[in-house]
Amino acid sequence: MNTTKASGFISVDPDQSPLKEVHNLLLSGVSPRPIALVSTISEDGVDNLAPFSFFNAFGANPPYIAFSPAYSGKDGSAKDTLLNLEKVPECVVHAVPYDMVEQVSLASTDYSSDLSEFVKAGFDTLDSEVVKPKRVKNSPFHMECKVEQIIPLGGTNGSGNLVLCRVVRFHVSEAVMENGKMMPDALDLVGRNGFNYYTRASGAALFTVDKPTGQGMGIDQLPDFIRESSILSGNDLGKLGSLEMLPNQDAVQKYISKLRMDKEGTTYTKLFLHGMEDLESNPVQGRKDIEISAKVALNEGDLEFAVHILMSLTDY
Ligand SMILES: Cc1cc2nc3c(=O)[nH]c(=O)nc-3n(C[C@H](O)[C@H](O)[C@H](O)COP(=O)(O)O)c2cc1C
Repeated sequence: MNTTKASGFISVDPDQSPLKEVHNLLLSGVSPRPIALVSTISEDGVDNLAPFSFFNAFGANPPYIAFSPAYSGKDGSAKDTLLNLEKVPECVVHAVPYDMVEQVSLASTDYSSDLSEFVKAGFDTLDSEVVKPKRVKNSPFHMECKVEQIIPLGGTNGSGNLVLCRVVRFHVSEAVMENGKMMPDALDLVGRNGFNYYTRASGAALFTVDKPTGQGMGIDQLPDFIRESSILSGNDLGKLGSLEMLPNQDAVQKYISKLRMDKEGTTYTKLFLHGMEDLESNPVQGRKDIEISAKVALNEGDLEFAVHILMSLTDY
């Protein structure tokens, strides 16, 4: 690979590097990628199914998605999916949950064009409502699509071909719906990383990030002693910076008096009160306890507690 090193980074000029290395950079660095399991049909009516992780959604009004079947890096040949779409510009794109990832991997095998991956990979079929290619019943989310454009991205070995699709019908399994929402745990989708790695988007891998209300004041508005804390991370500062303003000292004192009276306080309240006691005799340890209690509170979503107790350190 043609690389240089500066400021702790390895820099790569793709025009001067082997295709395999460039491909690996994209696969590892642009990840996890959603996987499209794409169903197409040949002019002669042979069903075809293949996964593509160079895939995403690009607009909602009207709904557009795109994926990219590449020409072979070795001989420049086109994949059956692309050949089919050039003749019959319709497809069904399916989401891939964890419980079918091995079948999807099997469907990525290079079977000859007269064989159906539906059969080889053991998927059940459903007819589509608008387009000719069939649907994979096993997936919880299907998009019937009309292909609007196929944009060649280089036209040589290893080049992609961006297939821009307009979604004409969505199908969602009732099993993944709760109160009108598709639930990520029930979908249990997988993403593709570099090399042989995949990601499973359910359970402990899921977390939520509250949308900032209004306009956050920004990390630059936090006092230096908070911004330069060795205990608070960039994520912690991001949460604090999402507040519209800092509490004044009067509000801070009132908040802390209330905490002192709360005998049933949380673990982080107790750690804070302990830190307060330490502040006079051992200010370094006291500050540390208070910053840790703020960090724990931020982790548990108690932004109000964190900002008030951190601002109580203004005079120390
Ligand atoms: C999870 C996964 C993601 C893949 N993503 C892509 C992709 O984005 N582009 C591509 O050209 N091939 C991709 N492949 C490889 C194709 O699925 C494979 O070449 C397949 O044989 C193509 O089938 P076809 O000839 O029936 O179109 C991927 C394979 C797997 C297992």
